[in-house]
Amino acid sequence: IHITWDESSAEKGGYKHFMIKEIYEEPEAIESALVGRIKLEGPFLKEIEEFNLETINKIKVVACGTSYHAALVFKYFLEKHINIDVEVDVASEFRYRNVYIDDNTAVIAISQSGETADTLESVRVVKRKGAKVIAITNVVGSTITRESDATIYMNAGPEIGVAATKTYINQLVVLYLLGMSILKKRNVWSENLEKDLNFLKNSPDIFRKMFETIDLKELISYYKNFNHFMYIGRGINYPTALEGALKLKEISYINATAYPAGELKHGPIALLDPTFPVFAIAPKDSLYEKMKSNIEESKARKARIIAITTEGNKEISSIADDVIFVPESPEDMYPLVIAPIIQIFAYFVADMKGYDPDKPRNLAKSVTVE
Ligand code: AGP
Repeated sequence: IHITWDESSAEKGGYKHFMIKEIYEEPEAIESALVGRIKLEGPFLKEIEEFNLETINKIKVVACGTSYHAALVFKYFLEKHINIDVEVDVASEFRYRNVYIDDNTAVIAISQSGETADTLESVRVVKRKGAKVIAITNVVGSTITRESDATIYMNAGPEIGVAATKTYINQLVVLYLLGMSILKKRNVWSENLEKDLNFLKNSPDIFRKMFETIDLKELISYYKNFNHFMYIGRGINYPTALEGALKLKEISYINATAYPAGELKHGPIALLDPTFPVFAIAPKDSLYEKMKSNIEESKARKARIIAITTEGNKEISSIADDVIFVPESPEDMYPLVIAPIIQIFAYFVADMKGYDPDKPRNLAKSVTVE
């Protein structure tokens, strides 16, 4: 027998690119992030036991790119459940502005690689002001772990593709756990949080089932020909819209832009016409009716609409041109179940356009220069 074998496809486990392999690894990545961290009786994250998260009243989160989007999800999540200010900044801005830190402020720095120059410099700036910093990273022993006071590892395993995929998922998982730790420490625990925690536990299987059934290829072969996309979302899914647009532009070079859906009418809606599709993140949550109006407004400008919504939502087919369904989830958790969809969409658009999504032009996996 003659067996053809090449090193690069062996590394990719039979997949065409690392990016799609890493998306399909998400269920196992989540399992690794959850190991030892979801027992209601104990602390979710032992790493932060020494921080007085019971008393702080301000949290500043600093990150870049996809990590910044994960930070925004954290803000929406935590602020919904407790009266606390969570301020989120991109590191390249944070490091140059005057950030006020007092004894009741905690700083969280998120960096998959742990080597992003702007994020590291932000850590140094706040440390000089006396802040305690919790780092969230994927890379053991990376610079950020050495410069911060505590590290929460996201345990996603190595990510080779330049586009963050499974590490975004694990950032979300770890940030939900961090939020829940803060809530538990302050005795703010509710039935809804219990549901969120259960959902996290079950999410690897939910992802597996989703991956078995999802087939976006026909839809993508149509949409790949457009030169512009408008991603819209609201509330905790506004960051999902930002992440969807970032994923698409970084690997397929399509001009994708993202807005909180309520902002459309303040300018961006002028862009919409039949050549400018709208990708609406519209799960059946408490802001769904608002999203529906924004979809209708977009439709009135003759834009094509792709909507991501919750299984069983029949009415949306009458306003959206194409619908992608995700399983019904607790409201807080939609960013997690929708993330693989926007990743898969971006991946296949890039692949069908003939680009290598693992090595997008002008980009590096970690940005170690300013
Ligand atoms: C995401 O797909 C990008 N590759 C990029 O935005 C990345 O998230 C950003 O550069 C931050 O990287 P870090 O998490 O390693 O700090």
